[in-house]
Amino acid sequence: MYTKRGRKPVFMYLIISLRLNGPAWVVEWRFLLLQTLFLRLNKMTIMALSSLLTRFNEPETLKMAKLGRTLRESGIDVTDLSLGEPDFNTPEHIKQAAKQAIDENYSHYTPVAGFLDVRKAICTKFVRDNGLQYTPEQIIVSTGAKHSIANLVLSLIEPGDEVLIPTPYWVTYSEIVRLAGGEVRLERTSKESGFKITPEQLEAAIQPNTKLFMFSSPSNPTGALYTKEELAALVKVFEKHPQVYIMSDEIYEHINYSGAHESIAQFESVKDRVIVINGLSKGFAMTGWRLGYMAAPIEIAKACEKIQGQFTSGTNAIAQRAAIAALLGDLKPTHEMVQAFRTRRDSVIQWLKEIPGLEIDTPPAAFYAFPVVKSYFGKSTPNGERIQNADDLCMYLLNTAHVSTVTGRAFGEPDCIRMSFANSMENLEKGFSKIRKALADLQ
Ligand SMILES: Cc1ncc(COP(=O)(O)O)c(C=O)c1O
Repeated sequence: MYTKRGRKPVFMYLIISLRLNGPAWVVEWRFLLLQTLFLRLNKMTIMALSSLLTRFNEPETLKMAKLGRTLRESGIDVTDLSLGEPDFNTPEHIKQAAKQAIDENYSHYTPVAGFLDVRKAICTKFVRDNGLQYTPEQIIVSTGAKHSIANLVLSLIEPGDEVLIPTPYWVTYSEIVRLAGGEVRLERTSKESGFKITPEQLEAAIQPNTKLFMFSSPSNPTGALYTKEELAALVKVFEKHPQVYIMSDEIYEHINYSGAHESIAQFESVKDRVIVINGLSKGFAMTGWRLGYMAAPIEIAKACEKIQGQFTSGTNAIAQRAAIAALLGDLKPTHEMVQAFRTRRDSVIQWLKEIPGLEIDTPPAAFYAFPVVKSYFGKSTPNGERIQNADDLCMYLLNTAHVSTVTGRAFGEPDCIRMSFANSMENLEKGFSKIRKALADLQ
């Protein structure tokens, strides 16, 4: 792989070799010498990057968004259904708290684990919303839920450890595990089980070296939601395997269309092995503010604090002050946003159900549709190109319908594609009518 820096010696080599003169055999000889020298130089530049970079991939979601942006920059009207963030503004009272924090000069380094009153506010939220008791020492505030997940995996996982992840899963889980040198074991679920792992599957998948189980409920990309009974059945399995920690990613907690949020941390028999990940990004339309947190057994919280202390230090002071307003303030704006998502979800699912060959159930949470699209594999585009898989279908939709979606392969489910409905109703109508037409054109 050539880096930008790596291209430089190649250009120098071309320029110098063009300026060589003299008898043909001398030129040839000097040419060869120069070639060897510059190739060596270039190789040294290529080798300068750490091999760590070869262990994990760039997020597919960001890659699709980037491709869509490039098309848009060339003047094409692209409908973006690839990104996972609310298209709403951060609620007013949260913005006010941030402005006040600036005026009050919250401009200094913050404690690595987060301000004490922010961690207390998080504890209050856990009691109010989840019936869970934590002490502030168990809470670590971070620069986004993704950062909390990285802290956790780097604290727990080392070469030889296996991490069990039911698919479909959020793209980052497996890549952070690989970055830490752990082994990833993916356990495939199906539309029939609502894209949820069953207790039987879990039992069969756990190995003696399984150290961590990572899942999200509500799920990105499927919107699947584990009920209390389903979690209780999984807990029965975990009780038999005390070496397994459980990461419960609950970042979509508030984007729920079908009742109470259930956390696996409510089960006392496993609570001392559960790490709850959450944050402000989705429920408060604050993706760019970068504030996440974890609630963990004390020794894991301390380990994460130690790691975070060397990587980023404490989280941005302004975002932390705003977090108190978000966590303890009025949830009305969140509820209004969720109501808008529900209306969009109902329309999007209706449209998808009307498209022949797509299989989809109504997601009970989050803001994604994740239809099974495999009936289109093997069909040909109007240009005679064959759609072999979900990647090809996404590229076809991008290049022909000018709609960006994400291949299910990125989430470990190659029969599906992900379409975000965190977009205006007008854009969704436009995007899905282009999708309908493009799919009808496949023969
Ligand atoms: C399941 C899941 N967990 C965590 C995150 C990361 O959230 P944050 O923006 O707080 O880093 C995302 C973001 O898309 C997500 O979908």
